[in-house]
This record gives sequence, structure tokens and C-alpha cells, in this order.
Amino acid sequence: MKKKIVAGNWKMNKNLDEGIKLTSEIATLIKDAPVNGVEIIIVPPFTHLTDLNKLLQDNDQIRLGAQNCNENNSGAYTGEISAAMLKSSGVDYVVIGHSERRTYYNESDELLATKVNQALINGLTPIYCCGEPLSVRESNSHEDYVFTQISNGLFHLSQESFGNVVIAYEPIWAIGTGVTASAAQAQEMHKAIRNHLASKFGHDAAGNSSILYGGSCKPSNAKELFALADVDGGLIGGASLNPEDFVDIIRSF
Ligand code: 13P
Repeated sequence: MKKKIVAGNWKMNKNLDEGIKLTSEIATLIKDAPVNGVEIIIVPPFTHLTDLNKLLQDNDQIRLGAQNCNENNSGAYTGEISAAMLKSSGVDYVVIGHSERRTYYNESDELLATKVNQALINGLTPIYCCGEPLSVRESNSHEDYVFTQISNGLFHLSQESFGNVVIAYEPIWAIGTGVTASAAQAQEMHKAIRNHLASKFGHDAAGNSSILYGGSCKPSNAKELFALADVDGGLIGGASLNPEDFVDIIRSF
């Protein structure tokens, strides 16, 4: 079943003490005024996962995600983190193919397909990111660009495996810029993505998949975005570093 999800991607921000404080504040705000029916995911740096897992062990609404995983099972890959390690640290979700990793670390769709496999084999839900740069949007080829990212990264999966994948559409021109996709742009793209997924996995599977929006999502625009028919939540960057803003976004559903 399609889930409503709000995930906070902290990127490379917050030291451990700050991360514990931020998580505690989010948990307290949610406990004081519960939000029903929304899966809340905190996606901190790797170094914080074990401590945050302990902190959240009695919390059944806030889950943990990681920002990346390696494409191999285990072995001589100095500095890398496997999906199995994440699972054993209490992680349920892993962000795969964030545009920052595609751009700064040259992660290709083909590599990301293998990371998706690793995540699924190890019982993690991949949050597979896609999204076009401004030049592609301006040349009006954004749909094809995103469809290719999705086909290359996910279309090798069985329908059953696809049922465990979350999609995040994050137009690069909206990430960290303060410029959000308009409601019309977001709905048009999310609907197109869902149709593309349906062409491979069928209407039911596509209809049940959660497609999150990311890119300058904040308390002032979350309500409008989350009300859209094909937007099932958000992947939040900057605003997830502030507990009140993050919880306001969660309450926008
Ligand atoms: P911002 O919300 O800071 O634009 O970042 C979005 C993002 O990249 C989340 O993964």
C-alpha cells in the first residue's frame, strides 16, 4: 500500500551531539502532538545511526535511513558501508542516487541499479532519487531524462521487488536553491513518473508506490505539494535540520 512519507536528509550536517539533540527534539514534538498515518524517516550521517537507533528504539513512528550504501556485499572496499551493515545498525531505508552523489561522485544509473539490489537483498527500502538539471528542464526534455534514470535504475526488478522501492523526484534546480517546483510542475512530473512505472510494473504496483518530492520543500509550501494527487510525501534537506520546520512539514499532510 502507498505510504505517506516524510524523510529528512541531513546530508553532511550535524555532529553526533547535535544529531542526538535534533532527533530528541523531533521525537518530543511528535509525541506531544501525534501525527497519524505518516512514516517519518530521519536520514543522518552514517556515524550517527547506531546512537540514534538506540534513542529511537521505543519509537514506532520514526525510522532511520542512510544516505548511501556500497554496491558490493562485503570485502576490500576501504571507507565504504554495506547494506548489511546498515541493516544491522537498525536502518530501514537507504537513499540511492541522490543528485549530489550522481554529480560529485559520478554515480551512474548502472551503478545505482546494483546498489538498489544490495539494499533489497538486505531488507532495506531504497529511496531511489531522480531529477533533472535546469538545462534539461529548459530544453523541455525533463520527462525523458527522468524516465531514463528510472528505467536504468529500477526496470530490472521484478514487480514484487519493485513493491519495496520508494521514488524521490528531486529537480536539481530546486535543491537548496529556495526555488520549489510549482504545484503544477510537481504534479505533472509525479503523474508522468507514475505512468512510466505503470508501463513496466502495471497500474496497481505504480499506484501503490510512494513518490516523494524533494527540493526546497518547507513549511510554507509543503501543504500545497502534499495535497497533490501524485505527491506522496517529501524528501527534505535544509528544513529537516530544524526540528520545528521538519515537524511542521510532517503535519502538512
Ligand atoms: P533542500 O530541501 O535543502 O532543497 O534539499 C532537498 C534534498 O536534496 C533532499 O534530499
